[in-house]
Amino acid sequence: MAQKYFICNTSDLEEGQERKFKYKGRNAILVKHDGVFKAFIDHCPHAGGALEMSEGKLKCLTHCALFDPDTGCAESTPAQEGSSLMEIKLDIEGDKISYLNTIVFKSRNACEGHEFKRANVLL
Ligand code: FES
Repeated sequence: MAQKYFICNTSDLEEGQERKFKYKGRNAILVKHDGVFKAFIDHCPHAGGALEMSEGKLKCLTHCALFDPDTGCAESTPAQEGSSLMEIKLDIEGDKISYLNTIVFKSRNACEGHEFKRANVLL
């Protein structure tokens, strides 16, 4: 059974907010979207930028690619279509949010078909 590591209480995050934490020494981000908590490695698949919640999306702070906070799937360039963030499994018991010592790796094309916008800017 995977070990659990406490992050914060459910009441610590409002809708649309994020909280940064460390996952095995790596930067990670916990978000609350539509009442659901999700966590991802805080590392954009384009060039490693950090992320933040912005208007209901996870937005890369480096080149502004958008990601679906429910699935981690990329929704806009310059992230590659079909790419995604690495999701961290959570355990919510009562009001305590913990992460489990496992990462959900998506297959290369797991986000294929996900809504995606191309910008006319190449970075
Ligand atoms: S590093 Fe995230 S869009 Fe470039």
